[in-house]
Amino acid sequence: MRIILGVGGGIAAYKAASLLRLFTEAGHSVTVIPTEASLKFIGAATWEALSGHSVSNDVFDQVEKVNHVRLGHQADLMVVAPATADLLARAAGGHADDLLTNTLLMAHGPVLFAPAMHSEMWANPATQANVATLRSRGLHVLEPAVGRLTGADSGPGRLPEPEEIYAAAMALTESAGHSSVSSAVLAGRRVVITAGGTLEPLDPVRYLGNRSSGKQGVALARAAQEAGAEVTLIAAHVEVELPDDVELIRVETALQLRAAVQQAVADADVLIMAAAVADFRPDHTEQSKIKKRDDSADPVITLVRNPDILAEVVAQRNAQGGTQFIVGFAAETGDDRGDVLDYARAKLARKGCDLLVLNQVGQGSEGQERTFGRDANQVLILDQDGSEPIKAEGSKQAVARAVIQRIVNKIVAL
Ligand code: CTP
Repeated sequence: MRIILGVGGGIAAYKAASLLRLFTEAGHSVTVIPTEASLKFIGAATWEALSGHSVSNDVFDQVEKVNHVRLGHQADLMVVAPATADLLARAAGGHADDLLTNTLLMAHGPVLFAPAMHSEMWANPATQANVATLRSRGLHVLEPAVGRLTGADSGPGRLPEPEEIYAAAMALTESAGHSSVSSAVLAGRRVVITAGGTLEPLDPVRYLGNRSSGKQGVALARAAQEAGAEVTLIAAHVEVELPDDVELIRVETALQLRAAVQQAVADADVLIMAAAVADFRPDHTEQSKIKKRDDSADPVITLVRNPDILAEVVAQRNAQGGTQFIVGFAAETGDDRGDVLDYARAKLARKGCDLLVLNQVGQGSEGQERTFGRDANQVLILDQDGSEPIKAEGSKQAVARAVIQRIVNKIVAL
C-alpha cells in the first residue's frame, strides 16, 4: 500500500518513527509529510532515511508535480501521528496552509488521526468539537492513551502505542479492500495454526464440545498465507468453510490434536494455538449408545484431564533449544477476584508462550455474545517481554492480520 504519514509538532513525534518502521517492515511504501513545527522535534533527514523517500512540507516544492494532489490521490491511507490540537483544528476547519493540510483535503483513502496533547487541551470543548466534526465527516480519530504526559502530569493525552495505531490503520484499510501484511514477508516460513473446538465423545452419537466456531483460527491461516507463509491448519470442529489451498489436517479430540501438533511443530517456525481445547474428556467412550432406561439411576460421567498441549509444546521447545515462535490464545472473563488482564498475564506466565492473544468472552454490556461465532472481534496481544499489550479490533480477518503482523515484527529481522 501507499501510505502518507503526517507528523504533527508534538514531543510524541519521535514515536512516529516506530510507526513508520512498522509500515515499512510490512512492505508498505510510506511518504512522510511533517508539519513545520514537527521539524523542531524530528528533522526531515530522519524521515528521509527511514522512509527512503524525499520529504517536504511545502506546497511550493516541486510545484510542477502538484504534490498535494498527487499524494492525496495516490495514497491508500493517511495516518496523522501525533495529531496535535492545532492540527486537528486546522483539519476540522478545512485549512490548507501547508502540504499536510492540503493533502488531507485531497485524500481519497481512509484518514486516521492519532492525537497527542495535554489532558486539558484534549478535554477542551474546542478540541472535542473539532474531533466530533472530523468524525462526522467519516475521518477516524483514535482516543488518546491515558498515562504519563510530557511533564510531571498524567492523564488522557498520550499518543497511543505505535502498534495500536498500526492495528487501527490496518483495520481501516481492510474495510477499504487492502491487505495489510506484505505478501512475501513470511516466505519460506512454516506456520502451524490450530482452529476450532475439540469434541470429546461420550458414545458413538454424543460428545462434550464447546462454542468455538473456528472463525478466528481460519482467519489466521488466511492471513499467514497472505504473508507468504507455508501454512498447516489443524482443524477440530469448525463452523466455517476451510481454505482448500493450505495443508489441512482434520482432528476431533484433544488427544488427536495433540498428536497432530507434536508432529507438525517439529519443522515449524511458528505455532499459533487458536483452538479451543477441551480441558476434560470422559474417562472412557462407550462403544454403543448410552441407553435411557426408565428403571435405572441418572448416568454419571467421570471426566479426566486433557494434557495442556500449549504448555507441553513450550516446555519441549525450551528443553530442546528449539526456535519455534509460539502463540497462545486466552478466552477469559473477569470476576470479583481479578480483571481479564490479570488473568491473562498469569496465563502467559504459566504457559510460557511468546505471545498471548486475549479474547474477552461472555456477554457484552447489552447482553450480546462477545466473541463466539461473531464476525468481529477485539483482542489484546500480550507479549512475554512485558511490553504494553496491543489492542486489535475489527473483523476477525483484521484481528488475524494484526496478530500475524505482530509475529512478523518479532521474528523477521530488519
Ligand atoms: N490449550 C491447550 N491445551 C489445553 C487447553 C488449552 O493447548 N488442554 C491452549 C489453547 O489452545 C489456548 C491456550 O491454551 O491457546 C489457553 O486456553 P484457555 O482455554 O484459555 O486456557 P486453559 O489452559 O484451559 O486455562 P483455564 O481454563 O484455567 O483458564
